[in-house]
Amino acid sequence: MRSSSLSRRLLLLQRQLSPNSSSIVNQKRTMASQIPTKFDINTSYTMNSGYRIPALGYGVYQTPAASCEEVVLHAFKTGYRHVDSARAYRNEQPCADAIRASGLKREDIFFTSKVPPRAMGYEAAMKSIESSFSQTRLDYIDLYLIHSPYGGKEGRCGAWKALAEAQKAGKIRSIGVSNYGVHHLDELEEYIKTSGVGGTIDVGQWEIHPWLPRNDIVEWARKRNVVIEAYCPIIRGQRSNEEVLKTLSQKHGKTWAQILLRWSLQKGYVPLPKSVTPSRIEENANIYDFELDEGDMKSLDLPNSYAPCSWDPTTSND
Ligand SMILES: NC(=O)c1ccc[n+]([C@@H]2O[C@H](COP(=O)([O-])OP(=O)(O)OC[C@H]3O[C@@H](n4cnc5c(N)ncnc54)[C@H](OP(=O)(O)O)[C@@H]3O)[C@@H](O)[C@H]2O)c1
Repeated sequence: MRSSSLSRRLLLLQRQLSPNSSSIVNQKRTMASQIPTKFDINTSYTMNSGYRIPALGYGVYQTPAASCEEVVLHAFKTGYRHVDSARAYRNEQPCADAIRASGLKREDIFFTSKVPPRAMGYEAAMKSIESSFSQTRLDYIDLYLIHSPYGGKEGRCGAWKALAEAQKAGKIRSIGVSNYGVHHLDELEEYIKTSGVGGTIDVGQWEIHPWLPRNDIVEWARKRNVVIEAYCPIIRGQRSNEEVLKTLSQKHGKTWAQILLRWSLQKGYVPLPKSVTPSRIEENANIYDFELDEGDMKSLDLPNSYAPCSWDPTTSND
């Protein structure tokens, strides 16, 4: 075994054995590639980094900075422990203010930011990471992703190098990518293998829901224990009138949004619903008192569907 691989395994073991070294303690450890049979609001997955990630996230894209602290605090009160932000959302600071104001222990909260598309390349990504720290004043960030694969191979690899270095320095605990297609993922895997810069792909974030299942990407990620985060998990409300959702909604006495979020959980994904509406924040977390059976899951299985509701950089070839 190569020494870098050995030391990574030892680190992983150490984090799994030491209760204080992980972001969520005292819970059953589930690797991302194993889908649990039971879920609750504290369900989490162990990433390749050895740290854990809560299986339900709270997205803050388009959440105005002025109201962000308040809605994130409401999410914490509701039971969410995972906030998905980004440099591009311009609300990292109020998210961090909410973390401080919550009264919760820092290690019980999971916070994500992302390198913006205009900051690809080593130098610019380093600056992006520094800006996140100066704005949030956090001691560490749980997860930092490359927001999109735009920027060419040099830009992508340079940004990865910056993330891997920040991870080694202990500033960022886990790293990953967003909106990468299989060809971008293969390129990154090759770069990690050959460059010596290090880092494991801990998380990938994509638009994923029944109308955009992305089975090729999911298969790639599963084989490597990469945690799959699902953005736009409720498709921004655009599918609320679909017959299949009406049927399942009636059968289970849950809303169409809850059906979609439960589907995402049962697929083993980490859904990141966004809402600035307190009642919806609560509704979207109230998904642990029912279960979709095999037939229900099958009725939402649309393997050939390709209908993004957001951008789709996975197809870019630059
Ligand atoms: N990496 C990327 O490129 C990328 C791209 C897009 C999103 N994301 C992440 O994923 C998160 C979620 O994606 P998204 O915000 O685009 O889409 P989404 O979560 O699928 O939908 C959010 C929209 O649905 C509404 N909504 C929320 N809960 C509802 C409910 N229970 N019933 C009816 N309507 C409801 C929200 O309205 P109100 O807020 O007014 O309640 C909002 O307009 C983002 O916040 C961000 O963190 C990442």
